[in-house]
Amino acid sequence: MSIPSPTTAYVEDVSPGSGALPPRARYASSNARSLALNGSWRFRLSQTADAEDDSFAEEGYDAGGWAEVTVPGHWVLQGHGSPVYTNHLYPFPVDPPRVPTENPTGDHLRVFDLPGDWPADGGAVLRFDGVESCARVWLNGTDIGEFKGSRLPHEFAVGHLLKPTGNVLAVRVHQWSAGSYLEDQDQWWLPGIFRDVTLLHRPPGGVLDFFVHASYDHASGTGTLRVDSDVDGRVTVPALGIDTVTGETVTVPVEPWSAERPRLYDGVLATGGERVPLRVGFRTVALVDGRIEVNGRAVLFKGVNRHEWHPERGRALDLETMREDVLLMKRHNVNAVRTSHYPPHPAFLDLCDELGLWVVDECDLETHGFTEQGWRDNPVDDDRWTPALLDRAARMVERDKNHPSVVIWSLGNEAGTGRGLTAMAEWIRGRDSSRLLHYEGDPDCRDTDMYSRMYADHAEVERIGRGLDGGTGKRRELPFILCEYAHAMGNGPGGLADYQRLFETYGRLQGGFVWEWIDHGIADERYGYAYGGDFGEELHDGNFVCDGLLFPDRRPSPGLIEFKKVVEPVAIERDGAGGTVRITNKYDFTDLSALAFTWSYEVEGETAATGALSVPPLAPGESAEVKLPEPPEAAGAGEAHWTVRARLAADAPWAPKDHVVAWGQFTASARRVPSVPPTARPVPGSGTLTLGPAVFDARTGALRTIGGVDVTGLRLDVWRATTDNDDGAAWQSDVRYGPLWRRLGLHRVRHRLDAVEPAGDALTVRTRVAPAARDLGLSTVYRWTSDGERVRLTVSVRPEGDWTVPLPRLGIRFGLSGADRVRWYGGGPGEAYPDSRTASSVARRQSTVDDLQTPYVRPQENGARADVRWAELGGLRVEGDPEFSLTARRWTTEQLDAATHRTDLVPGDTVWVNLDHAHHGLGSQSCGPGPLPRYHLRAEPARFSFVFSTVPRRGT
Ligand code: GAL
Repeated sequence: MSIPSPTTAYVEDVSPGSGALPPRARYASSNARSLALNGSWRFRLSQTADAEDDSFAEEGYDAGGWAEVTVPGHWVLQGHGSPVYTNHLYPFPVDPPRVPTENPTGDHLRVFDLPGDWPADGGAVLRFDGVESCARVWLNGTDIGEFKGSRLPHEFAVGHLLKPTGNVLAVRVHQWSAGSYLEDQDQWWLPGIFRDVTLLHRPPGGVLDFFVHASYDHASGTGTLRVDSDVDGRVTVPALGIDTVTGETVTVPVEPWSAERPRLYDGVLATGGERVPLRVGFRTVALVDGRIEVNGRAVLFKGVNRHEWHPERGRALDLETMREDVLLMKRHNVNAVRTSHYPPHPAFLDLCDELGLWVVDECDLETHGFTEQGWRDNPVDDDRWTPALLDRAARMVERDKNHPSVVIWSLGNEAGTGRGLTAMAEWIRGRDSSRLLHYEGDPDCRDTDMYSRMYADHAEVERIGRGLDGGTGKRRELPFILCEYAHAMGNGPGGLADYQRLFETYGRLQGGFVWEWIDHGIADERYGYAYGGDFGEELHDGNFVCDGLLFPDRRPSPGLIEFKKVVEPVAIERDGAGGTVRITNKYDFTDLSALAFTWSYEVEGETAATGALSVPPLAPGESAEVKLPEPPEAAGAGEAHWTVRARLAADAPWAPKDHVVAWGQFTASARRVPSVPPTARPVPGSGTLTLGPAVFDARTGALRTIGGVDVTGLRLDVWRATTDNDDGAAWQSDVRYGPLWRRLGLHRVRHRLDAVEPAGDALTVRTRVAPAARDLGLSTVYRWTSDGERVRLTVSVRPEGDWTVPLPRLGIRFGLSGADRVRWYGGGPGEAYPDSRTASSVARRQSTVDDLQTPYVRPQENGARADVRWAELGGLRVEGDPEFSLTARRWTTEQLDAATHRTDLVPGDTVWVNLDHAHHGLGSQSCGPGPLPRYHLRAEPARFSFVFSTVPRRGT
């Protein structure tokens, strides 16, 4: 039995720690020396907090037999123990502040020498940027303190302990601590020293804390700068001619900072002992008449929630990965990021300042697991914990206060309500009145400057927009944001465009933040990417951890492509059939002068002519009708489209010249659907019927070949491998169609053959498609005709019985052998579903069967190309009347449905093709609302046709 020993009592102490210096501003560099202590450290894992004594911290201790780990890193991702994933449940008994006896504890040891030219004068500070969840630190055998607050910096004064060589830095890290109760975010529990460890020389007279106050007055176009500093010094900003002293206020004409045009001015804060570079962005954030304004203009957040994630390194992110995140956001028209649910690595905020993103900086605080007990004993409503909460608020604000990109402080996430939150809010307001405050979990909005919700459905958001949501008191007056919406788990989210329409209609709605940026899949040989449960966790939430707009390897998912289109900053629309387009500038701050517009005229999906389109440099909010040229004369006949694109006119720091920011596509002349005059007649053979190029089984009416191409199992299909959004979240009271479809048996319908009728110029096959145990069915008639060259299939479906549920899909499926390359004319390049299809444009396209797959971490319906006019694969050509949705895969829908990881999908010899007349929408019910009713696929009488012919196989 292990009794908590006095030496480890700090682990279960609600206090934030002892020994650390007061928090202060973080700056990337100065002329003072520093020494990175990242790299390989000696490592020993024990299973309890006190299994080992602290003798390893002594100088001369021989750790030669220990393992090694990389710092920054998480030991569970480096072969020692395993990660654990829970959404909101604490993976240990809830008995605050006690933690389990089984408390994986990692002793870390690093011996270092000071560089030969390390200054002899001054002091030194040892800085930890992030350690999960509790650490105790010794330098050269001296205990210098312990701390909690995993994603917050902690500094210790260590100058008096340093030696020129052989310094022994010992850090004991406990996975669980009292702090864990405050860090119940929906993510992997990943212990370790996961951010940088740095030794900083502190020159005599060096900078301590400083606060850059840089505001912008839009009426006069001037910026006002004052740098407050604990140590007096000079402040210079050469480009503005500013040369002043700390504490003095200077007002000069400036260009303001915004996420759209992130103008930073380089400056220097020089004290007697140190020169710190400043990057000053002038901007003023204010709540004006119920709107969040920056520099005098209301802003619309087109945001994402970003957890820090790397599939191999977890939350230990390198600079390149952070930069990639920001570049990907900018390139996909994202303008805001909520740092869910903790302050990010500080370098991320430097990138947001530099490249331009509005940041909601969120404190490292979540106590969501207490919801299980009706929030009883919630630490945020218990005064004993308030010092820890205030410590967290201060560490965030002090560290990040000099970033112009940070416009909103967030108290934390899903922590219920309580006095502790109010104390945090009061402290933050007292320290920094230049930003607004956010917290979602309190319906009364006691401590916040905005009414914030997560996952409210469209109807409710509209009511809020109209002010009809029944909010009382303070809440009524506040602007609204959706701090989380559009749960991007698996295939989806659907409904983004419908939300955006609301945000753009009602001034009170200032946008939202999609949940979430990236799937937290862990690279794993067994599974491709592992998720909750894959490490044998007793308690876990499965693939709920994979709900991002990026796949774990940072490949954009179709959801991100859709988001880019939905939030594009320029609307390119066509009102009528006339030869003009309406261009609207949807930026909040900038005109359109950075963009160059082009048009292209496409016939049957091939570009026939292109040119430049002259668009005036519209101011924010302005629109203009712009005339398109005459259609090119030599373009030829057929369906034609105009596509107008807005591109970067020059290289931007975040994307090269010609990067497409926005586009619109319009029909110039309509499609003519294929006509197949029925001239051939069914001809009986031995056990077969031949109709033009098609051969059927005479007894069953089943298609066997078309023009010599074998076709297997062609029949009606209504089933799709349910998506995470079809399945919904278990706690939802709304109908969840995935489980309902399964209960109905739509995944195991049978096809009863009622008649095979070769008569006149047609072969008619009558069937009834229905699941066992139900009286519901779909009377389904296949009617085949041919002009001798081509064969036309018309499918007529008539629901029988009381169908109150929508269908997953409606179309046909069949198998082809030896298909690989796919050509089509229709929607793409990526997948599209009824409520996530704005990014799909019509063109001539080609791909391979493998590349048509969207690699959702948990396999599910994916890859449908919408609005397909015709497609060619495996030697077959299909034309649709009307257009259809195309999927092709090397496994069946049933295999896709059964797979839990990508590695379960084993390609077979047959390519299974679905030609769908329609699909049910996607929605985002894995946490939010299901598809809006207009995207439901109702079981109604339907008729659709396909015209089949053969083409030479192209490289199969
Ligand atoms: C929210 C929460 C997020 C995440 C999301 C679902 O309630 O704030 O952290 O759990 O739901 O993925």
